[in-house]
Amino acid sequence: MQILHWLSWAGYQLDAGVFNHQEASQHVLASAKTESSSNIQPRNYAAFLPSEDAQIAVAETPFPKCGAEELIVKNHVVAVNPVDWKIQDAGHSGRFNLTYPIVLGQDLAGEVVEVGSSLQDEFQAGQRVMAHASGLGNGNAYGAFQLYTVVKVATASLIPDEISFSEAAVLPLSISTAAAGLFMKSTLGLRYPTTESSHARASGNSPTLLLWGGSSSVGGSVIQLASAAGYTVITTASSAHFEYCKELGAAHVLDYHDSDVVSALIALLKGKDVVGAYDAIGSDETVHQCATILHALGGGTIASVGAAPDDLPADVAVTRISSGNIFALEPEIGKAVWVEYVPWALNSGGLVPNPKALVVGKGLENVQKGLDRQKQGVSARKVEVVLA
Ligand SMILES: NC(=O)c1ccc[n+]([C@@H]2O[C@H](COP(=O)([O-])OP(=O)(O)OC[C@H]3O[C@@H](n4cnc5c(N)ncnc54)[C@H](OP(=O)(O)O)[C@@H]3O)[C@@H](O)[C@H]2O)c1
Repeated sequence: MQILHWLSWAGYQLDAGVFNHQEASQHVLASAKTESSSNIQPRNYAAFLPSEDAQIAVAETPFPKCGAEELIVKNHVVAVNPVDWKIQDAGHSGRFNLTYPIVLGQDLAGEVVEVGSSLQDEFQAGQRVMAHASGLGNGNAYGAFQLYTVVKVATASLIPDEISFSEAAVLPLSISTAAAGLFMKSTLGLRYPTTESSHARASGNSPTLLLWGGSSSVGGSVIQLASAAGYTVITTASSAHFEYCKELGAAHVLDYHDSDVVSALIALLKGKDVVGAYDAIGSDETVHQCATILHALGGGTIASVGAAPDDLPADVAVTRISSGNIFALEPEIGKAVWVEYVPWALNSGGLVPNPKALVVGKGLENVQKGLDRQKQGVSARKVEVVLA
């Protein structure tokens, strides 16, 4: 067996033929366990994308360093998002402008093993947390697809004992993405939920949000955060997920497969105080569907997770969502949501982990399988890999 060190990854392609991922991963888990029990810094291993046109590989990587406002987390479960396979699929297109090798992954849940110097009064080793891993902007030590990740405390929340690591790992990126589209001044600028406002579920007269894609992972968090902030949510999903969306807080759910779904939504929303549209699917088609509806209601803004076409009616604006902006551009939103609301809401039941997990395997060698499975398409499920 040959274990490649991070620093030698530049030469990875030369060694790739003799590298056995499965063998390496077993070695990882065994050595990390032995060494942590004798209080020696554990060895870290990562599932990484070696280059633009490669499959995910596994190799040893340095144990991360913990900054003053950071935590090091031993990952128990990581979740896979569409962006992970989209980066792999982008190949040499330059669409994501990344430096390789790269450790992907934005959702993790695990156990704190090291606490930054400024956080000694707030956190301690052994606590259970979930976090929005921020590897894409900050470097490989911050990516989720490794045994130990360093996370910025502003992107992390304690998880109550009743919530498993697998349940918690479905949430983080979807929370940040929902918050970025709903609450930022540059998106829909809605009021955010607080520990006082939650459970004051929206009534018939509440301002109303149109959400396209309520059964998606992002959509589930949009429903929960928007309704906890006092908005009525009207959304679309397959009929199989009507009840699911309603349990999360949606007032009405319409089937996006129906040919008259746009006119039905216009009829339903007419006369209501519509605060805008959140497109949690973000295709050209869904943005146009949202735009047709808003235009019929007198105009408005669409926050889109993806496409932002420029051929919309003049009274409809579209703004693109970037989940990391709640930390980088409007950190007061990141703090209000992640530090103040999420830990409280998880404890009080105001925020419930959804969708359900779809575990594809245990060990880093299953990360590629996870990307492949997410890419096939999921229906109200979150693909996960168990690591510990
Ligand atoms: N910009 C950002 O910062 C950011 C962050 C995160 C995600 N994203 C993007 O957001 C999108 C959603 O991500 P995700 O993880 O939430 O996706 P996901 O959970 O994998 O989406 C699957 C769901 O989409 C629903 N769906 C598919 N086509 C639909 C349509 N035409 N109308 C309504 N619902 C539809 C399906 O509903 P049914 O099963 O009910 O049919 C299914 O449950 C992806 O494109 C992702 O790349 C962007």
